[in-house]
Amino acid sequence: MADTPAASPVSVSDDGAVRTVTVQRPDKLNALNAATLQALADAFEAAAADPAVRVVVLTGAGPKAFVAGADIAEMNGLSAVQGRDFSLLGQALMCRIERMPKPVLARINGFALGGGLELAMACHLRIAADTAKVGQPEINLGLIPGFGGSQRLLRLCGRAATLELCLLGAPITAERALQLGIVNDVVPADALDARVGDIAAQLARSAPLALRGLLDAVHVGGECSLDAGLEYESAQFGLLFATEDMREGTSAFLQRRPATFQNR
Ligand code: COA
Repeated sequence: MADTPAASPVSVSDDGAVRTVTVQRPDKLNALNAATLQALADAFEAAAADPAVRVVVLTGAGPKAFVAGADIAEMNGLSAVQGRDFSLLGQALMCRIERMPKPVLARINGFALGGGLELAMACHLRIAADTAKVGQPEINLGLIPGFGGSQRLLRLCGRAATLELCLLGAPITAERALQLGIVNDVVPADALDARVGDIAAQLARSAPLALRGLLDAVHVGGECSLDAGLEYESAQFGLLFATEDMREGTSAFLQRRPATFQNR
């Protein structure tokens, strides 16, 4: 079990190779203030560096919210320069999560609004409870998304849905989010832990260096031409032939037994 300082707005716990990072401000529906953004950045830095961690689950404390957005009370008093810095702090966190060398799974247990949806979109997979609602409601505050929402939503589900969510600001159901491709799966709220646990356990058993290569290839491919992406994929593919895990995975298939991957 990893240590979590008592007063931290973020808690961390380990179950085998699965690390769970939880935003711990349930009385504020886990809203992201600057201290929480920093605590999340520290938690992800530590998870990236720890070889015992193979997958990270990100969630929010309490029954109501994953994260209900950036902290509106904190934003209310910011100057333009401070507002830009707050945006840059949030964007840096989202980029850090997106570029994690191990899979990050968002467990969307309730409201994922504004910065909460931006946080979920930075994760590699999103599983939502059927009671969850997601949206980009910043327009109702005289704002626009500032932690990458206008850009990641666009890349995730296209211009029509992005403009609908960001222009109208109305939250949508988890089911609609699934139809739009914003989340990967929706399950009954009481089945969320089992579904997230199954996916996390599968990822924890997978070959870590292959997972990393795949995350890299998809990220790079999303930012470049097809030719450049294909070249990058070949390089990553070739590199994996230098790993013991690739020999183990292919041998285990041929020998009709389960593979055991060692991160080597
Ligand atoms: N920032 C700061 N505080 C927030 C917050 C946010 N984004 N979202 C909720 N809270 C706080 C509320 O102020 C309230 O605090 P209080 O008890 O000290 O007054 C507490 O969390 C509970 O929220 P409340 O609004 O009473 O819950 P609700 O069930 O009536 O409504 C929501 C839930 C999610 C619909 C509503 O809280 C909401 O619209 N939040 C803001 C969503 C948003 O605009 N996010 C984008 C921000 S950029």
